[in-house]
Amino acid sequence: MIGNLKKEFKKYFNEEGKLFFSPGRINLIGEHIDYNGGMVFPLAISLGTYGIAKKRNDSLIRVISGNFSDLGIIEFDIKKPLEKLGNWSDYVKGVVEEILKLKSFDYGFDLYLYGNLPNGASLSSSASLELLIGVIINDFNELGLQQLDLVMAGVGAENNFMGLHCGIMDQFAVGMSKKGTAILLNCATIEYKYAPLELGDTSILIMNTNKRRELVKSAYNDRRNECEEALSIIKTKMPNVNNLCEISSKELEEMKNLFTNPVIYKRAFHAITEQERVINTFKALEDMDLVSVGKYLNGSHESLKNNYEVTGLELDTLVELAQECDGVLGARMVGAGFAGCAIAICKTNKINDVIDYIKPKYLEKIGYNADFYIAEGADGAKKLED
Ligand code: GLA
Repeated sequence: MIGNLKKEFKKYFNEEGKLFFSPGRINLIGEHIDYNGGMVFPLAISLGTYGIAKKRNDSLIRVISGNFSDLGIIEFDIKKPLEKLGNWSDYVKGVVEEILKLKSFDYGFDLYLYGNLPNGASLSSSASLELLIGVIINDFNELGLQQLDLVMAGVGAENNFMGLHCGIMDQFAVGMSKKGTAILLNCATIEYKYAPLELGDTSILIMNTNKRRELVKSAYNDRRNECEEALSIIKTKMPNVNNLCEISSKELEEMKNLFTNPVIYKRAFHAITEQERVINTFKALEDMDLVSVGKYLNGSHESLKNNYEVTGLELDTLVELAQECDGVLGARMVGAGFAGCAIAICKTNKINDVIDYIKPKYLEKIGYNADFYIAEGADGAKKLED
């Protein structure tokens, strides 16, 4: 594949470029709590975004994506105001703008990229692109920025340029992962540790609903606002609390009468119990107790469905079918939800049976096929050639 990408680069730009790769991510558990100061437990995966790039001697950026080649080469100048076009190149501009806030730089680049992550499938294709761009700019301009700066530039691009008020999880996982581990990240303090991901005779199966994600941005931002409302209610009793995930489910329950809107209570209930499930999952994984890990995953999905209401028929169907299978220890949706992917922890020797069971039933109920991939871990975004 790399050979083909290099040929494409040569075809469009008539020169040779260097190879960069930025992964996608899954999240074992800890959903919709990164922006509530919670703990999350993601890892980068080997599906991601490949880029062949060459530094330019002027301030132009010229990019073309093999996934959207009909859009042709998109060109802009980093010295001029950056305009949104409503296509994938907006992510590139968002990152440029954020890096310019950290350090000025002069040189643009030519880039051909190709992603093998399904788009809009909750595997962080956008964070993958953002980190790819960050790494390229940092390298070509010798800015000396830390990987964490590039992570924050990616988050800033989403928050400021794209208008999605996401948390830090996706960009952090895409930027900071180490193959063979998952990252236990405290999103309130940005403390993190790498936990060896030893899954014994099981593997992580990624199941794609193939449902198109529409209106996720507004629903996502709504959830964030609801959590802020919950926090302001909690603060009337506990003024020193800064994040929902700081309090226990027992403390929340004691304040239940303060919540006049049961929806707001349910949102807080999800965030706080999800935080507890993350901590329990981490412990269970340390003990190699994968049966318990599976139960926490199931509990997470149930709460995302009933309390946080971010699943939907397609995700619920996939997850519930997986949970019926012999050999599946647990399953849940990943990412923002509404559509996209779910994961299942599955006995490796049963994976084909599991897929054979789910596939026709999903097709019959939903009317189109689901796709399946085995998750393989990966390192964070980096240059692969000097
Ligand atoms: C999206 C966001 C993340 C996180 C997840 C839900 O992927 O980008 O910041 O909030 O949803 O856990």
